[in-house]
This record gives sequence, structure tokens and C-alpha cells, in this order.
Amino acid sequence: MRIVLLGAPGSGKGTQAFKLQTDMGLPQISTGELLREAVAAGTELGLRADAHMKNGELVSDDIVLGIIKDRLAASDTAKDYLLDGFPRNLGQAESLDQVLIDLDQSLDAAILMDVDFEILIKRLTGRRTCSKTGKLLNIYFSTKAELEECLTNGGELLQRADDNEDTIRNRLRVYKRETEPLIEFYADRGILRVIDANGIADEVYASLKKVLVS
Ligand code: AP5
Repeated sequence: MRIVLLGAPGSGKGTQAFKLQTDMGLPQISTGELLREAVAAGTELGLRADAHMKNGELVSDDIVLGIIKDRLAASDTAKDYLLDGFPRNLGQAESLDQVLIDLDQSLDAAILMDVDFEILIKRLTGRRTCSKTGKLLNIYFSTKAELEECLTNGGELLQRADDNEDTIRNRLRVYKRETEPLIEFYADRGILRVIDANGIADEVYASLKKVLVS
């Protein structure tokens, strides 16, 4: 199965992609994660991406496409995968179409995770990652026990560099301007599915699976 997960920053793409990967073995390809790894490693690509990410702007299409082509050439993504955060504008969606033609593949679904604006802000300002386990947490939505588990094991709750209010607002503006047109793009291709992603993560996952098996 080849799936695009569409949704605003904070809609829960990463959270649900992790569940799908664990439960169904679908490899997750997150351009955001791959870019953050490049920034952390200080590669040339990472240096080019860093300022854009800090400002909440999109990284240039040529960088992102290069990353995607490399990742799709790996053996674990020969058949199934889940694209998380890509494509993010019409140019990337059209380039993906061409890459898929070259690979003789097609997408099974583009799933839009629909979440109310106020909830997005709370999820993004509250997001933390445990430095010890890498687990994605949230100071508003994770249980006290989950947060304490990280701290008592000597971990720290780290905040992403682009999860401050100014950058979050810009990321949401960029999503509206650049990424929302993809909803129509995939609706026109007949593969758009929309799920209500406002609920708790397990409820959202149940909706997601329902869409995938229908
Ligand atoms: P990227 O890493 O893709 O970030 P994003 O799209 O802004 O999405 P997020 O990771 O912020 O949110 P998410 O939807 O994954 O939510 P999550 O599951 O983490 O991109 C970052 C940057 O990289 C971009 O701004 C851009 O600069 C660059 N970039 C990436 N891809 C690019 C591309 N294709 N082209 C150009 N540039 C690109 O959840 C968020 C929080 O909410 C967590 O704390 C989580 O625990 C919590 N949560 C999740 N679900 C629930 C729930 N159901 N209930 C309660 N809490 C929940």
C-alpha cells in the first residue's frame, strides 16, 4: 500500500505514521524527519534547509525531491510506504506523479487528517520529545505517568526549534497557501479520503484503519 498523509502541522501525521509503521509494517517516509537529521548532522543539505525550517517556510523543492528519490530507491520501500509531509505543494505533487510513473507505481490513497485550528496550536506548542527514548509526547495531552517516565529515567523533554508561537503561525499560513490546494488535486484523482483527526490518538488511528481497509 502506498499512501500520502496530508494534514496541517500538528494534525498528528507523525503520530499516526508511527502507529501504521508499527502495526502494519508500512515504512514511514517523513521529509521533516529526514531534513532534521540532515540539519543535526551538519551536512551541506542540512545547512541549506536549516534557515527555512527555523522560519517555518518550505525547503526548496529540489532538496526535498532529492531526498524522496533516494528514499524510494531503498529496498524497504520497494512496495509499500507512507509519505508523511510530502508532497507539500502542487509542484511536489506533480513531481511525485512523475517519480511514480518512472517506478511503475501508483498511490492507493491520500488521507487528509482534519483538525480544528485551536487544537493544532495546542498540540504544537505542547509537543515534546523525550531525549532518552525519542518518544513523542505532549505536555497537554500525554498522561502524567508518560511524562514522568521520561524524566525519572534521566531524560529531558525537548521542544522542536520550530515549535515556538511565531514559527507555528507561519507554518500554518504556509500550509494554507501551499499545501491545502493538494486536497483538490487528490480529490480530482479520486483517491482523497478525509478523516476527523480531532479525537485522541487511538480513535484517530481506528478511523485511519477503517479508511485503509475499506
Ligand atoms: P514536518 O516535520 O513535516 O512538520 P509539520 O508538517 O509541521 O508537521 P508536524 O511534525 O509539526 O506535525 P504532525 O502532523 O506530524 O503532528 P505530530 O504527530 O508530531 O516539517 C517541518 C519543516 O520541514 C517544515 O516546516 C519545512 O520547513 C520542512 N519540510 C518538511 N517537509 C517538506 C517538504 N515536503 N517540502 C518542503 N519543506 C519541507 O503531533 C503533534 C503533537 O500533537 C505531538 O505532541 C503529539 O504527541 C500530539 N498529538 C498527535 N495526535 C494527537 C491526538 N490525536 N490527540 C492529542 N495529541 C496528539
